[in-house]
Amino acid sequence: MNGYLPVVAVADLPEGEMVAVTLPDGEPVCVFNHAGTVGAVSDMCTHALFRLSDGVLHADGTLECLWHGAKFDCHTGAVKRHPAPAPLPVYAVRVRDGQICVGPRVVAEEAES
Ligand code: FES
Repeated sequence: MNGYLPVVAVADLPEGEMVAVTLPDGEPVCVFNHAGTVGAVSDMCTHALFRLSDGVLHADGTLECLWHGAKFDCHTGAVKRHPAPAPLPVYAVRVRDGQICVGPRVVAEEAES
């Protein structure tokens, strides 16, 4: 996907909250507000595809899947607790005119730097 798509107003996503959105190409994305920083990751747990937006965003920035308890870093997608076998894809995000806009996937090396 090229460009950035507005998906939710910043005002509608308070700190500690997540929302599920679906991109035009059908990709499910979890948009979050962690301590005032907004971001987006794949909404599919890499263990067994449970929706992470139905999980818990902890104060330390870990995103917990409620099915089997895997945890991910919400900013980098890195696995913080198994059984997740792989990191989450991370999406570029911009805020424009009060709207959180989701862009293309960020390659892993960029997400971890
Ligand atoms: S589906 Fe997420 S931990 Fe199993």
